[in-house]
Amino acid sequence: MSGKYFLATFGCQMNVYDSNLLGGMLEKRGMQNTSDPESADVLIVNTCSIRGGAEDRAYARIAAMKYYKRRNPDVRIAVIGCMAQNHGEKIPVELDHVDYVVGPDNYRGLENLLFEKKPKVTRVLTEQNAFENYPGVMARLDSAVSCHITIMRGCNKRCTYCIVPTVRGVERSREADDIVAEVERAVSEGVREVSLLGQTVNSYRTEKDSFASLLRRLDTVSGLQRIRFMSPHPRHFDMETIRAMAESEKVCNHVHMPVQSGSDAMLKKMRRQYTRARFLEIIRELRAVMPNVGLSTDIIAGFVGETESDFGETLSLVEEVGFDSAYLFAYSPREGTPAFAEPETLTAQEKQERLERLIALQMGITEKKLDAMVGRTEEILIEDKSSRDATEWMGKTDCFKKVILPDAPGMAKGALVRAEIIARSGITLRGRVTST
Ligand code: SAH
Ligand code: SF4
Ligand code: F3S
Repeated sequence: MSGKYFLATFGCQMNVYDSNLLGGMLEKRGMQNTSDPESADVLIVNTCSIRGGAEDRAYARIAAMKYYKRRNPDVRIAVIGCMAQNHGEKIPVELDHVDYVVGPDNYRGLENLLFEKKPKVTRVLTEQNAFENYPGVMARLDSAVSCHITIMRGCNKRCTYCIVPTVRGVERSREADDIVAEVERAVSEGVREVSLLGQTVNSYRTEKDSFASLLRRLDTVSGLQRIRFMSPHPRHFDMETIRAMAESEKVCNHVHMPVQSGSDAMLKKMRRQYTRARFLEIIRELRAVMPNVGLSTDIIAGFVGETESDFGETLSLVEEVGFDSAYLFAYSPREGTPAFAEPETLTAQEKQERLERLIALQMGITEKKLDAMVGRTEEILIEDKSSRDATEWMGKTDCFKKVILPDAPGMAKGALVRAEIIARSGITLRGRVTST
């Protein structure tokens, strides 16, 4: 098959990376990417199953694609990713315009199906493969300045609320040599910042490398300016990693580390493998060597059995840490997870109410943290023109704060400039360039 493919991506950055991986495979075979579904020969939806809402959105998008199939019956439609793995055979039954359903371990299979002379629809490829790591495949680059690179796939944790281990299978780390080569290639094409991705990114391990040694190796890649990673799991946040972060030149002053709850009873029930005290200890260890470290997290409100007092512990942890920002979610029961068997103890309204209290608390802290930046001079990596106003530029600080800067000589995508933060508007900072 030659022609064009259209790819819509839902879910986390690992799905974005996988879309680029598949894009890389298809482009090597002569296909072209298009952002216009009308002109595409193949329509692909990369899906997420993390919460009910994520699946609803993906289903709606796939259903809407029936229009293109009616207009041109030769168009092929593929549903890939975590929801494809989760619902498998059910998808083409419910949505009969879907030609292929392909889970995250079978993208090579999809590539081959698309190039078959006589496609046999419908095919469902969802067998899990504990070794599939896509060595040798070059992902297409998603942005000129900052890109994401998956360094490990799958997850060996069994958090009781989470569907990821079911749909993504067991943990597999990529060879460090391949990761370094991929980063070097990205840098040669203009990338200045890489974000290393994995569900528990700091449990990365191969025969030769640990997560800390990988960070140190990447720190030597010339032309690369910044290294970020997400999401580290508290269980694996050791001193070796903290030292590697502090001693490296390029690893950013920011850690996104999901805590999920501030209550030990809930952490235990979630099977998170750490306590509130241990989480706080890691934060202290980080701040001891990186005093201005930016901190962000993920939290679930209203898990099964969460009492008002458990929730109070989450609120107090949020205050105690003072996260710069947080992704906050209401618990969404997922069929196939251990917690699904337990009847929920809160109504949707009660979960929503807790979520809103958490959001309000965090918003106040976020604004305070941003206000504290005003007057400081920061190094900012320019990512692009501002999406609001093309005469301005958008960049990020080392600690992951968005800053809008006016145009000035020397400003360009990928430039590293110094700027004084002069004001906050909403959750965005505005700055004045002091040197380029
Ligand atoms: N691997 C990462 C998290 C990946 S999923 C980690 O363990 O840190 C991203 C976030 O979605 C999680 O951190 C959690 O806060 C949220 N999440 C996962 N399952 C959920 C569920 N069933 N309901 C609500 N939020 C959920
Ligand atoms: Fe899900 Fe837990 Fe694995 Fe994160 S560590 S992906 S929350 S099972
Ligand atoms: Fe969603 Fe799969 Fe990521 S379930 S959050 S796309 S790993």
